[in-house]
Amino acid sequence: MSETAKINIQGKEIELPLILGSENETGIDISDLRAKTGAITLDIGYKNTGAATSAITYLDGELGILRHRGYAIEDLAENATFLEVAYLLINGKLPNNDEYKDFDLNIRHHTIVNEDMKNIFEAWPTASHPMGQLIAMISSLSSFYPESLGTGQNEEQKKLNVYRLLAKMPTICAMIYKKSLGHPFNYPQNKLDYVSNFLNMTFKHVTEDYEIDPVLVNALNKLLILHADHEQNCSTSTVRLVGSSHANLYASIGAGVAALWGPLHGGANQEVIEMLELIKADGGNVEKWVNKAKDKSDDFRLMGFGHRVYKNFDPRANIIKKACDDVLNKLGIHDSSLEIAKKLEQTALADPYFIERKLFPNVDFYSGIIYKAMGFPVEMFTVLFALGRLPGWIAQCNEMRDQKQPIGRPRQIYTGEILRPYVERGQR
Ligand code: SDX
Repeated sequence: MSETAKINIQGKEIELPLILGSENETGIDISDLRAKTGAITLDIGYKNTGAATSAITYLDGELGILRHRGYAIEDLAENATFLEVAYLLINGKLPNNDEYKDFDLNIRHHTIVNEDMKNIFEAWPTASHPMGQLIAMISSLSSFYPESLGTGQNEEQKKLNVYRLLAKMPTICAMIYKKSLGHPFNYPQNKLDYVSNFLNMTFKHVTEDYEIDPVLVNALNKLLILHADHEQNCSTSTVRLVGSSHANLYASIGAGVAALWGPLHGGANQEVIEMLELIKADGGNVEKWVNKAKDKSDDFRLMGFGHRVYKNFDPRANIIKKACDDVLNKLGIHDSSLEIAKKLEQTALADPYFIERKLFPNVDFYSGIIYKAMGFPVEMFTVLFALGRLPGWIAQCNEMRDQKQPIGRPRQIYTGEILRPYVERGQR
């Protein structure tokens, strides 16, 4: 196969190198395009543009493949712990017993946040959205740990930044939930594993003991794994772009949290449940809402449906859909939202509009049903997405820095006014 692509621009032909990935994906390296032709490419929304070479996650949107460092998501969700997957994403391999013990111990020893963080929580209006708080709290870590700000950090400091982030994220997420209730915060219990510690900090009421339910631990462990990384999605690309300016890790991750909040991205899991509640309140007439989603004059979209990459199915949605039945049965919960979701999926997938556009349920379509069954309010759903995505963001940011990528600075095609003289205000 040719190692180059030929491009003819206004009669001038140039050759550009092809770059081949380990799964035979082909990219045209356009690094010299502008120097050789004066032209740039334009790809609104980056639908056909690669921003990086990466060894972390592989997606095949046509075949519904998702692998992390070569391991199938189905294997990881079934067999691994979330911390194992975090280690895998960040270090490139699954940890052996000693590596896992060391990783886990380092994280357990950094779960407490600075007491002054409570003062920041005090300042937040009680009803403020958890994602706005999370953006601020993650970025505030650079204030509590100013040694994380320097650009010439040694490996030990870089590792410490990662341990602190992974360790304090559950604590901060639990504090955000407690803040929403006006309840006192719980401290981490380092005898507990990562997920159990988070559940305990979140759901333990100050006046009672809290019994950790293994059904919830297993379900959340699986959900966090399914959200852990997803190559160059909107929030991860944001983390990489902010990190490329050599901003500190906490600020870069805070920017990723902000991007994830959008309803077209991680915010969709909250929107899905609100949509299902709306359809339920409207008598469960799914056909009516599927037709609204197809109507171009109607802003309504089927939230949790469609994906930029997956064009046959989102493997994560399939795993979560199976887990839904299992978790709700084990918890003895009947949630009519699940029935509506399944009917919505069935109706949409039989409809030419969705078939032609290859729109299928994505990771957000069923996840909220499990979060709700676990006792989380909808406003916390995207916080849980961020908790899962954290190791992926860290791994991607580290990879970008290790590759010594230049600061990200896209070009543009200018479509505004051409040169015109300044006119005095009285003459306008
Ligand atoms: C996540 O990138 C990632 O990997 C993201 C993610 C991750 O793990 O990081 O997987 C997590 O963000 C999942 C997606 C969550 N968002 C939603 O569920 C919101 C609803 N879905 C859409 O808004 C949409 O499908 C996107 C944003 C997910 C993808 O949008 P694209 O790729 O830009 O596609 P598009 O908006 O151009 O849609 C193509 C066509 C359009 O119709 P036509 O103009 O061709 O007539 O499909 C239609 C769209 O109107 N369409 C939908 C639809 N999604 C797309 N129509 C109705 N309902 C929908 N949900």
